[in-house]
Amino acid sequence: MQDTHLAALSPDLQMLYAAAVVARQKSYSPYSHFAVGAAVRTAEGRIYGGCNVENASYGLCCCGERNAIFAAVCAGERNLEALCVVADTKGPVSPCGACRQVMREFNIKTILLGNMAGAIKICTLEELLPYGFDL
Ligand code: THU
Repeated sequence: MQDTHLAALSPDLQMLYAAAVVARQKSYSPYSHFAVGAAVRTAEGRIYGGCNVENASYGLCCCGERNAIFAAVCAGERNLEALCVVADTKGPVSPCGACRQVMREFNIKTILLGNMAGAIKICTLEELLPYGFDL
C-alpha cells in the first residue's frame, strides 16, 4: 500500500480521481450525509462513475464503488483495470467489505483510495481483501 498525493499521480490516474469526485456530486445520502464517489477504468480507457444511493430502508443503501462497477458491467464491460473511491474523510477512505468482494469479482488490479484533499493510498486487491471468497 503506497501513500501518495493527487499531484504525484500519473495523468490517467488523476483523471480517474477527477471522475470519482464528479460522480460524488450526485450522491443521494440524506440519511448518513456521507457522500461517496467512485470511478472505474476499463482496459480500453473508458471510465464509469458511481455514487452511493441510500434508502429509508437502510439495508437497501448501495455504495459508490459497487454502483460504479455495476454501471460499467451494465454497459457491457468486463475488463476493469482500476478504481478510485473518494469521500470527505480525514485520510483516504476505506471501502467496505462488500465492495472489496465485488472488486475481486472483476479482478480490479489498481485501487486508489482518496479523500477530498487529494490524499491517496494506492493498493492492490490482495492488500484490501486477502483470501477473498472464490468458487
Ligand atoms: N459507503 C460507500 O459508498 N462506500 C463504502 O465503501 C462504505 C460506505 C456509503 C454507504 C452509505 O450510503 C454511506 O456511505 C454511509 O455508510
